[in-house]
Amino acid sequence: MLTDLKGLKVILKTSYNLHQRLSLIIMPETVLQAEGLTKVYKSAERDLIVLDHVSFEVQQGTSVAIIGPSGSGKTTLLGLCAGLDVASSGTVSLMGFKLNAMNEDDRAYLRNQYIGFVFQNFQLLPTLTALENVMVPLELRGERNVTKKAKDLLARVGLAERFSHYPSQLSGGEQQRVAMARAFITSPRILFADEPTGNLDDENATQVTDLLFEMNQQEKTTLVLVTHNLELAEKTQRILQMKGGKLVNERFLAVL
Ligand SMILES: Nc1ncnc2c1ncn2[C@@H]1O[C@H](COP(=O)(O)OP(=O)(O)O)[C@@H](O)[C@H]1O
Ligand SMILES: [Mg+2]
Repeated sequence: MLTDLKGLKVILKTSYNLHQRLSLIIMPETVLQAEGLTKVYKSAERDLIVLDHVSFEVQQGTSVAIIGPSGSGKTTLLGLCAGLDVASSGTVSLMGFKLNAMNEDDRAYLRNQYIGFVFQNFQLLPTLTALENVMVPLELRGERNVTKKAKDLLARVGLAERFSHYPSQLSGGEQQRVAMARAFITSPRILFADEPTGNLDDENATQVTDLLFEMNQQEKTTLVLVTHNLELAEKTQRILQMKGGKLVNERFLAVL
């Protein structure tokens, strides 16, 4: 797990306690733990509470869907869990690391090492080709000779003929498959996907969904998925339901 010197430096920082340092080394069962997660947007009129004391845990290698009406806080929750945003109060631990106690540099490092993210609107870099987009996370790690790995992954998502195409030259379904190759290239411990099929037609949605679960199983990634699509949600082992910024219900679907 300890892949490089910077990783070791982050882990050995005195600001982390022994449990946190060990947790990265011994592969904890609980990959994600949110406790009392609250997000408030302040405005002139009144404070808007978009997440209200949300607590849940996700175990290594499992899959969870988060469903709920538009505006119920799903994207906000995912952003906080992935360290893309900071909570107003409450904590998020990823593999024992409390994200809110870390600075942005260390959070960025953890994201690059352990987290994959797939967005509803793909978020590919428009000035880079499909191949270059997939290579970015490994290049950020300072890895060299990443072209072959990126090409292999693009081939795996059915895009072997499209390496040199720019996002604007690709359909929505193709862009999302590039985004999945980019998310999986680092073999993340946990993959967050925010309505990954939300902008796709039925046929592309099915293709992206099948790939997501196939790659998830092959890589043994933990999957946290936000979706409006109940059919997609029911492919996961647990469904968490949100309403008005709160977790209101939980269903366990498959026997682990
Ligand atoms: N930067 C922001 N400033 C103010 N309100 C926001 C901001 N981002 C999101 N919200 C509000 O937070 C609520 C939850 O948003 P979101 O997490 O995107 O919900 P969902 O993904 O479930 O549709 C919405 O009412 C939204 O308008
Ligand atoms: Mg959303």
